[in-house]
Amino acid sequence: MKATASRLALLALAVLMLGAATSGTVSITMPTVTVPLKPGPGMEVVDASCRTCHSAAYIYTQPRLTRAQWTAEVTKMKAAYGAPIADGDVNTIVEYLVAQNGKP
Ligand code: HEC
Repeated sequence: MKATASRLALLALAVLMLGAATSGTVSITMPTVTVPLKPGPGMEVVDASCRTCHSAAYIYTQPRLTRAQWTAEVTKMKAAYGAPIADGDVNTIVEYLVAQNGKP
């Protein structure tokens, strides 16, 4: 009997402590990460087509890709993730990407 009572008291204490630990609201400020696109032909098209979902860092953190690889990347964004890219813009975008971060 006595053991049950003290166990209950311990449980109550634990619940109280948990409440105290989680009741305070903590706010944190996330850093704003903005990676600008570097100027070049087609930049506006890339800006409109690529930056709705993720930052331009995705372009610059890739290893240098060939034209074929960048074309596959743009096609993947469009087909797999539904990027709003007009068919007529694919070439312009690929040219920009190759100029920025491409290899022959
Ligand atoms: C509809 C949303 C969307 C748009 C628009 C979009 N992407 Fe992505 N992108 C994604 C998702 C989702 C991933 C993969 C998940 C992740 O890593 O965050 C990704 C990943 C990437 C990667 C990393 C490599 C990989 O294949 O995962 C690159 C490079 C990239 N995107 C480039 C582009 C370029 C260039 C454009 C414009 C032509 C573009 N994205 C437009 C959604 C999008």
